[in-house]
Amino acid sequence: MSKTTSEAAPAAATTQDSQALEVRDARTGRTYRMPIIEAGVEGDQAIRGMDLRQVKVNAGDFGLMSYDPAFMNTASCKSAITFIDGDKGILRYRGYPIEQLAEGATFLEVAWLLRNGELPAQAEYDKWVHDITFHTYVHENIKRFLEGFRYDAHPMSMLCSSVAALSSFYPEAKNIFDPEQRYVSIIRLLAKLPTIAAFCYRHIKGLPFIYPDNDLSYGENFLSMIARMSEPKYEANPVFVKALEVLFILHADHEQNCSTNAVRAVGSSHVDPFSAVAAGIAALYGPLHGGANEAVLRMIEEIGHPKNIPGFIEGVKGGKGQRLMGFGHRVYKSYDPRARIVKQLADQVFAEIGMDKDLEIAMELERIALSDDYFISRKLYPNVDFYTGLIYRSMAFPTDFFTVLFAVARTAGWLAQWEEMLLDKEQKIARPRQIYTGYGERPYTNTLTTKNPRTKKKDSLRR
Ligand code: ACO
Repeated sequence: MSKTTSEAAPAAATTQDSQALEVRDARTGRTYRMPIIEAGVEGDQAIRGMDLRQVKVNAGDFGLMSYDPAFMNTASCKSAITFIDGDKGILRYRGYPIEQLAEGATFLEVAWLLRNGELPAQAEYDKWVHDITFHTYVHENIKRFLEGFRYDAHPMSMLCSSVAALSSFYPEAKNIFDPEQRYVSIIRLLAKLPTIAAFCYRHIKGLPFIYPDNDLSYGENFLSMIARMSEPKYEANPVFVKALEVLFILHADHEQNCSTNAVRAVGSSHVDPFSAVAAGIAALYGPLHGGANEAVLRMIEEIGHPKNIPGFIEGVKGGKGQRLMGFGHRVYKSYDPRARIVKQLADQVFAEIGMDKDLEIAMELERIALSDDYFISRKLYPNVDFYTGLIYRSMAFPTDFFTVLFAVARTAGWLAQWEEMLLDKEQKIARPRQIYTGYGERPYTNTLTTKNPRTKKKDSLRR
């Protein structure tokens, strides 16, 4: 696949007759011509999966499918939001390089950009920030059901269920084809995610919930809801505010990753956006995705000392199921551009508040892995999550909470992708095919002596 950089606005998809794939079916000797669609300005090319269905041995056959577990080579949509070139380590939102956005933009500016495709004019930005600030409060009942969680509940479980519950507070959000409703739902989600996330934190800590302070910026308000105690006005450390802003920008979108795919797939059933975003949070929770920053710190704690690194690396290479967390990426095969920015950010944060105690282990792990043929040959480089955990911990966020921070930021991307999916005329309910490998038809026989077994008394006492 060739990729050429272009400054031009995204072109409409074109299907040129000369651009076609000719395939000969060795079973029948028939040749098929399948148009190659050029779907974007960066040279991405594809055939339509449905064109394979004409390939049949007998007229009554279902037709050929493509088999692609984990979507290794399947484009599920056309998107104009985020561009990644994994080989070159490029990430752009709406054409703007991530490095420039991290340097100069605010998170809410990026959230606007992701949704609208252009940077906001001042008046647009002012309204956007005002509307989000205005919607930061949550219904008091949310507080009550958060209180029902156990003190050691994982904050991602709390966040996921609370965001899903928001749909019951805003039943009108199901009118997803009403632009006004979409707008207010998007505003509500961007506004309330930090509040709910902070409430989850305070619940785990056994601290009273702190209401939003609408005089503060998005990041300052979030830190206030997390950390404020008895002081009448919370003053956040500006280094932390900047770090949070940059980390939120880096995590705001990443094209068709696992959680975004979940949001699009669930959203394709035309459910309300609160439910679709809750699905994204559930997907992000997993250790192979957003849960990786938490897993990195647990791994570093398990290693305990730089002297244990060679043994740990040997264990990873031995293929006993342990992976070097924070390394490797499905798309980036040279480096993850976000990891580079995060590493610089880590230096700034540590210069302000002192070195994290495990930074030495992280740097040594990185050094050894980058010079080891196992990792080099598999193109395994540090990903964005390798250093984020160390920054978050030095800001005193508990390890369990790291993925929640990721979720707050990724909400901006999920919502932009959700809306793009809804307005895309080619999209339908997401429904993959399967290759059935089970039994052929067989008759039912009764293998039970009773259909309604009673629970034994001693079993129920043991519960
Ligand atoms: N440590 C050790 N070996 C690894 C790692 C790793 N972190 N990642 C991949 N490999 C090895 C695999 O064992 C495999 O080796 P093999 O060819 O000998 O079988 C080879 O590299 C290819 O790995 P795949 O699993 O096929 O790569 P895939 O693209 O499916 O996985 C993933 C990508 C899930 C990110 C993987 O690299 C991984 O598990 N990394 C650790 C978890 C992590 O950091 N996730 C965060 C991703 S970034 C994000 O979501 C924000």
